[in-house]
Amino acid sequence: MFPKDFVWGSATASYQIEGAVKEAGRGMSIWDMMCYTPGKIANNETGDVACDHYHRFEADVKLMKSLGLKAYRFSIAWPRIQADGKGEVNPRGIAFYNKLIDCLLEHDIEPWVTLYHWDLPLALQVEHDGWLNKDIVSYFEKYARICFENFGDRVKHWITLNEPWCSAVLGYGLGEHAPGRVSKVEPYLAAHNLLLSHARAVKVYKTEFQDQGGVIGITNNCDYRYPLTDSAQDREAAQRSLEFFLAWFADPVWKGDYPQVMREVLGDRLPNFTEDEKKELVGSSDFFGLNHYSSMLASEPNASQLEELNLAGNGGMIDDQNVHLSVDPSWQQTHMGWNIVPDGCRRLLHWIKERYGNPIIYITENGCACDEPNKEIALNDTMRADFYKSYIKASGQAIEEGVDLRGYFAWSLMDNFEWAHGYGQRFGMCHVDYETQERTPKLSANVYSDIIAQNGVVE
Ligand code: NOJ
Repeated sequence: MFPKDFVWGSATASYQIEGAVKEAGRGMSIWDMMCYTPGKIANNETGDVACDHYHRFEADVKLMKSLGLKAYRFSIAWPRIQADGKGEVNPRGIAFYNKLIDCLLEHDIEPWVTLYHWDLPLALQVEHDGWLNKDIVSYFEKYARICFENFGDRVKHWITLNEPWCSAVLGYGLGEHAPGRVSKVEPYLAAHNLLLSHARAVKVYKTEFQDQGGVIGITNNCDYRYPLTDSAQDREAAQRSLEFFLAWFADPVWKGDYPQVMREVLGDRLPNFTEDEKKELVGSSDFFGLNHYSSMLASEPNASQLEELNLAGNGGMIDDQNVHLSVDPSWQQTHMGWNIVPDGCRRLLHWIKERYGNPIIYITENGCACDEPNKEIALNDTMRADFYKSYIKASGQAIEEGVDLRGYFAWSLMDNFEWAHGYGQRFGMCHVDYETQERTPKLSANVYSDIIAQNGVVE
């Protein structure tokens, strides 16, 4: 059911696993600042040590090998490469990622590298307003060039941005992620500059590093939205919700501009692309990177639901969509309270296929947090094992139905720092004992390992 060269991998991100935040010339990032601000993160936890992957990467690569992973998606910490995001290149930062990449290749594991997974150099936020200032496009361009120059001889799969929706909405709209800003206007501006930065990095890669022969794309996140009822209004609400979520970031890259419905609703809050920018954006992703976790029911809000949306104080992000979201009580939920709906994954893949002309898709993240209060329970993570199986089966069905899905990356290789939730939410297929830093594969790791060996779910 899966093509024979299907890419089976797992994913992590720099700030969530590396630790060593003050070592080897790494500058501060907006996430260090967020974590050092009391009250922002559960239990005031930080990524200072995290999984100590910075010192343990060799053992971690061996662990990946033992599971049979074909690919490993990780991110580069921009502040390790340029402490302030725009100045000197830090040779010790380059050396670390060189060692990691070489180690992966020695073990026949293909590196998939994300340039930006949320750890913006703090100086760029403090001195330049981060993603709110268009100047970031040229800083990101320079940083990307440094990465292509130093790693592109061995890295053939690049992802510019991870989930820019989260950077924009959670970082600048709801204040839950760094830099912790709350606004109804800033998310749209941040998103705009994120998209332009993505397009610029791709332009650099395509014009200056063509001979490296790799591919480059963007990874967006989206949950699926089922219409609550079959009414035209609810179907429109579900569609609108998907457009405000995914098409916001994907339309500019595949079609050259934001969805019309966003333009109508948001007016001046939605910035405009120039004709040149549109040209730079269209076609700027060799594949469709998708992080997918959950589904919701969408409906046209009634009067009291509308009032609730407007009162929610949520930075305007949900009420802009004018969509009421709810949950089917039959759905099982993860420890994060996210609904487990494998069929939603299949439907979303079809939605992408239809809207964007059957692009090559990679699921660059999928997974779940389970309630794992102790190691013994964690190691018997039947819920996660079932989660992987069911989502992978649904993905396989989508392939049979014509979706051009080429790979799947489980989030995550190991338990790690889950942003504002700290270490309390465990997403790993390997358990991490944060006292000893011991990694132990859970049941789900073995199940995933079998799936890789059999190239699909065989029961
Ligand atoms: C999306 C993000 O890319 C990743 O950093 C996060 O840990 C997982 N989803 C789970 O929330």
